[in-house]
Amino acid sequence: MTNKPIALACDHAGFPLKEELKKHFDETGVVYIDYGTDSLASVNYPDYAHKLCRAIKGGDHDLGILVCGTGIGMSMAANKHAGIRAAVLSDTFSARMTRMHNDANVLCLGARVVGAGLAADIADLFIHTEYEGGRHAKRVAMIEEIGE
Ligand code: RB5
Repeated sequence: MTNKPIALACDHAGFPLKEELKKHFDETGVVYIDYGTDSLASVNYPDYAHKLCRAIKGGDHDLGILVCGTGIGMSMAANKHAGIRAAVLSDTFSARMTRMHNDANVLCLGARVVGAGLAADIADLFIHTEYEGGRHAKRVAMIEEIGE
């Protein structure tokens, strides 16, 4: 479990789910910083993905959660950043595995895909599961090796 606050960000489609997640985190004592957006007004998801990823790369956070309509656009933008490993998740098994094996540091959720209860379970597993390292470390390093 990270001792830094969880970074949260969303676009307009993800805003309602991000607010549900904040309620859940308030109830369960998970500390977070919210990088917006703060309403249903239309915005561009890459702006929020880049803001959150820069905050992680700057050392303010170990883990972040991005929410858009599908989670896909956010993950595409986030995975452009060196050192960011973003996973779009809609099940709890993958939430555990992507922390244990991939050392994923950004969870992307689709507000039009998963309900608030499932999203909270996925987020909890993502936050509380530790990376295993070991045989996975070489493979995770290989993700960063590509210079094309
Ligand atoms: C916004 O309508 C939608 O395109 C966005 O939230 C996201 O799903 C993109 O991947």
